[in-house]
Amino acid sequence: TSPFAPRHLLSIADLTPQELTKLIRNASSHKSAVKSGSVPSSIQNSLLGQTVAIMFNKRSTRTRVSTESAIAMMNGHPMFLGSQDIQLGVNESLYDTSVVISSMVSAMVARVNAHSEVAGLAKHSSVPVINALSDLYHPLQTLADYLTIHEAFNTTQTSGNSQSLGLEGLKIAWVGDANNILFDLAIGAAKLGVELSVATPKGYEIPADMKSIITSSAPEGRSFNIAETRVPEEAVKNADIIVTDTWISMGQESEKQQKLKAFEGYQVTKEMAQRGGAKEGWKFMHCLPRHPEEVSDEVFYSPASLVFQEAENRLWSVLAALEAFVVNKGKIV
Ligand code: CP
Ligand code: NVA
Repeated sequence: TSPFAPRHLLSIADLTPQELTKLIRNASSHKSAVKSGSVPSSIQNSLLGQTVAIMFNKRSTRTRVSTESAIAMMNGHPMFLGSQDIQLGVNESLYDTSVVISSMVSAMVARVNAHSEVAGLAKHSSVPVINALSDLYHPLQTLADYLTIHEAFNTTQTSGNSQSLGLEGLKIAWVGDANNILFDLAIGAAKLGVELSVATPKGYEIPADMKSIITSSAPEGRSFNIAETRVPEEAVKNADIIVTDTWISMGQESEKQQKLKAFEGYQVTKEMAQRGGAKEGWKFMHCLPRHPEEVSDEVFYSPASLVFQEAENRLWSVLAALEAFVVNKGKIV
C-alpha cells in the first residue's frame, strides 16, 4: 500500500485495542458535549464543503439516520445513493464505480450483501470506506454497543491504565444466530477483554474460519476463547449482558421457515435468564430491527433493556468514526 492509501474501517479487526478504546471514548465525550449544548470545535465544520457518499443496497433506519445526522453535525453533505439510484451492479462494475465516486467525494459509507463487495470498493477507492453492514461485519454497531456497555456499567478507566475502558471481566451472552453483528461484537470482546459465551442451534454455529479470526484478535499475550453451547441457559449463566439479533438477516428471507424451526427455544425471556442464572441486574441488548420471536416484549421493553440507548449511540459512534477515518485520515487521536 502506498503512503497515500486511505485507511478503511471494514471491521473491528481493523482497530487495535487502544484505537477501539479511543474511538469509544471520543464518541462518549462528543455525546456529552453536544448534549450539554456545544458541538466540539473538532467536529463543527470538519466536513464543510465535503460530500460523503452513503451507498446502501439494503434497507436501513439507524445506520442511515445516524450517518446522515453525524455528517450534518460536521457541516458536510451526506449523499444517499440507494441501489436503484446508481449504475453499480446493473450497468457498471464495482471497480469503475469505486474509482469514479471516490474521485468526487471525501468518503464512502457502504451497506452491501457479500463482504467482498465493501472490501472491493475499499481496494479501489482513493478515499476512506466505512462498512455500514456486510454479511460478515457491522463495525459501527459494535462501537455503539461497547459505548452502551461502558455507560450502563459505569466503567471507568482503572488508574494507571488509561488505555482501558474498564470492561474487563464483564460477560456477554449471545443467544441466537451466529451472524455479522456477533462477529464484530466478538472481535471487540477479544480486544477489550470481555468474556463471551454463545448459544446457537446445531447447524448455525460460528464458522470455523470466523472463529479463528475472532480468537486471533486478542492482543498479544492474552488468549480469548468463546464458550460455545447449544443450550441458551448455559450461555447466560453469570452473564452481565444478554444480546441477540434477528434470526433472519436481510437476504435470508427464503430460509425463514427453516430457521424459525431451528431456533425454537432460543427466545430471550425473563424465565430463560432466571433458569440459566444470569447475573442480578443483567441487561439486554439488540442492534434492532427487532422481531418478537427472538426476544419477549417483557424483556425488550423492560428496564433491563438498553436497546434504545444502544440505537441512539449509533449517532455518537459514527460521529467519532467519521472524525477519525475521514477528517483525521485514519489517525485515531
Ligand atoms: N442496527 C442497524 O444497523 O439498523 P439499521 O438496519 O436500521 O440501520
Ligand atoms: N443481522 C442483521 C442486522 C441488521 C442491522 C442483518 O444483517 O440483517
